[in-house]
Amino acid sequence: MESVFITGCSSGIGRAGAMVFARNGYRVFATVRNSGDAESLANWAAGQHAALHPVIMDVTESDQVARGVQEALAVAGRLDALVNNAGIAVPGTFERLPLSEWERVMQVNFFGPVRVTRAVLPQMRKQGSGRIIMVSSLSALVGLPGMAPYSASKAALELASESLRLEVDRFGIFVSVVEPGVVATAMPVKISGDLAATGDPPYAELLRHLHAQSVAGTGRGEDPMRVAELLLEIARAPKPAFRYPAGRQAHEVLKAVAALDAPGRDAFIRSVDSTEWWSEGLSKAVKSSK
Ligand SMILES: NC(=O)c1ccc[n+]([C@@H]2O[C@H](COP(=O)([O-])OP(=O)(O)OC[C@H]3O[C@@H](n4cnc5c(N)ncnc54)[C@H](OP(=O)(O)O)[C@@H]3O)[C@@H](O)[C@H]2O)c1
Repeated sequence: MESVFITGCSSGIGRAGAMVFARNGYRVFATVRNSGDAESLANWAAGQHAALHPVIMDVTESDQVARGVQEALAVAGRLDALVNNAGIAVPGTFERLPLSEWERVMQVNFFGPVRVTRAVLPQMRKQGSGRIIMVSSLSALVGLPGMAPYSASKAALELASESLRLEVDRFGIFVSVVEPGVVATAMPVKISGDLAATGDPPYAELLRHLHAQSVAGTGRGEDPMRVAELLLEIARAPKPAFRYPAGRQAHEVLKAVAALDAPGRDAFIRSVDSTEWWSEGLSKAVKSSK
C-alpha cells in the first residue's frame, strides 16, 4: 500500500487531499494541530474503512515534525509522497503589518515545508523514490498589494523547491509545486475578515478596496476537491512536472500574464482596485497591452 504524508488536514485542500488519497487506496498520514480535528478525521476514516492516521503536529515546531514523521515511518516503513499543504495568509501592508506577522507567515509557509521535507528526505533517499509536492499559490508569481508576506513566502518556497528538485532527482525523488488561484476554503474568508478589521489610516482606502474585492470573490473559488485530485494525479505520475497551475483561474491568469509586456503586467496588478480584479482587471490589462 502506497503511503502519503499530508500537512494541514483540519480543513480545506489538506482535508480534501487526505480524503481523496485515502479513497484511492493510499495509507494517509494526515497532520492536524489539535485533538478535535484528529478525532473528526479518525471518525471519517472509520466510516470509510480508510487507512487514515491523524498525526498531531505544528509545522513550526521541529520536535513535533521529527516525531510526526517518525510516527508515520513506524507504521508504514516508507513514505511514497509528501504534500506540504499547511499554510496561512495574513493580509496587511508592507509598511504597517508587524514584523512578527511577517515572521509568522514565513515560519508556517516557508520554514514549515523546509522542516517537514528535511525530515522525510533521508527515508525517500533510502527508498530511492518519492514525490514531494508543495502547495504554493498563484501569489508566488504575481505580487498583490496587501499580500506581501504571503507572496514572499510562496515565491521563496517555489525557488527553494526548484533547487531541491535538481539536488534529489538523482535519488528518484520528484519535486513539484502546485499553484491554485482562489480556492473556496476557510482561507479567503479569513483574509476578508482580517481586511475588514484593518483600519490602517495611511492605507485605509487601499485596504477598503481589497476588502470589497475579497467579499465579491467569496464562495467563487475553485472546489478544494479539484485541487486534491490534482495532488493525487501528481503523486501517481511516472515523471511529474515541476509546476502545476491548479484550476481554471490559475491557468487563465498564468497564460495572460505570460503574454503581457511589462506595462501590461503592471496594469494587470494595479487593476486590483477593481472589485472584479481577476476577471475585469485581466481583460483590461490584456487589451491595454495590445
Ligand atoms: N484557499 C485559497 O484560495 C488558496 C489559494 C492558493 C494557495 N492556497 C494554499 O493552500 C494551502 C491550504 O490552504 P486552504 O485554502 O486549504 O486553507 P485552510 O482551510 O485555512 O487550511 C490551512 C491548513 O493549514 C493548517 N495550518 C496552519 N498553520 C499551521 C501550522 N503552524 N502547523 C500545521 N498546520 C497549520 C491549518 O490548521 P488549523 O486548522 O489548525 O489552523 C489548516 O489545516 C495553503 O498552503 C495555502 O497557502 C490556498
